[in-house]
Amino acid sequence: MPSKVTIIGCGAVGEAIANALVISDEITDLVLSDVVKDKLRGMVLDFQHGQAFHATRVVEAVDWADTANSDVVIITAGVRQREGESRRDLMGRNKSIMEHIVPPMAQHSPNAIVIVVANPCDFMTQLVHKMSGFAEGRVFGSGTFLDSSRLRLELSKKIGVAPESINAYVLGEHGDASVVAVHTATVGCTLLTELVSKEAISESHKAVIGAAGEVIKLRGYTATAIGMAVGKIVEAIVRDKLEIIPLSCPAKGRCGIEHDIYMSLPCIVDRNGVRPWHTVLPPEECKHLQQTAAIMHEASKEVLG
Ligand code: NAD
Ligand code: LAC
Repeated sequence: MPSKVTIIGCGAVGEAIANALVISDEITDLVLSDVVKDKLRGMVLDFQHGQAFHATRVVEAVDWADTANSDVVIITAGVRQREGESRRDLMGRNKSIMEHIVPPMAQHSPNAIVIVVANPCDFMTQLVHKMSGFAEGRVFGSGTFLDSSRLRLELSKKIGVAPESINAYVLGEHGDASVVAVHTATVGCTLLTELVSKEAISESHKAVIGAAGEVIKLRGYTATAIGMAVGKIVEAIVRDKLEIIPLSCPAKGRCGIEHDIYMSLPCIVDRNGVRPWHTVLPPEECKHLQQTAAIMHEASKEVLG
């Protein structure tokens, strides 16, 4: 199936996603878009010089017309955290950037599936959905897919099995208020709670919350792992995989959440975008998600009014 993907914002994260997409060879056309035109041109040339090693046609967006009729649009344009800043600190600055991007994007690719990566991811996703007027399942955020990968790594170190063999989800906010779905997590066919203590899980969760800050302190930004995560999401769309992934989506009505906010909950991903996956969590975890939702709803007033 021909598949045209546009990445809007080709800084560190956009480039990492582009790399993941080109290496996986799942899409036919990749359009890269950025406001810094010389740097963009250099990046596109660099990708094109590898054209003998993959089949994806990589081109630059000189203007919005080059992005027209994309099947998938990935939004990574936006400022990133400096050391000590939280994701929510980026809210106002990245809202202005979305205001520039979303109207022309929606006009040129009215049938696209939109994946929002820019932070704070849940708030930007809700904003992009509202501004685009697209159907609900066609705009979602990468959310806690990355956090879940980080959790699986931390747990794998404690248990001594591969992260791939650990089925564990981080839900809620992509940020400091995430929630681990502890009681439904499994390792092979054994409940996680049979293998490690609650304290060990909590220690792993703390490491997940601190992970981005640690990388930012050491190298200034995170990009490689989110690149791989978004590559997997695009693969699930293009291959119509019906894969269950925790992604930032409308949360109201799920797990007893009453607030109109976006946060990560398990979704089924296929060629039409995402749909909620039936999720049953114990009351204490639902309560935790509901509390997070209330806090996020308050914070969302800054961008959503
Ligand atoms: P970066 O500074 O390297 O790149 C951002 C790019 O966006 C720049 O190239 C800039 O020119 C471009 N840009 C700005 N305004 C634009 C516009 N109007 N149109 C097109 N391009 C525009 O930053 P980065 O490290 O790539 O991070 C990008 C965003 O992704 C940040 O908000 C960061 O916090 C976020 N991020 C999210 C996750 C996640 O898991 N959701 C992970 C890592 C980073
Ligand atoms: C992350 C970014 C900073 O790597 O949201 O988690």
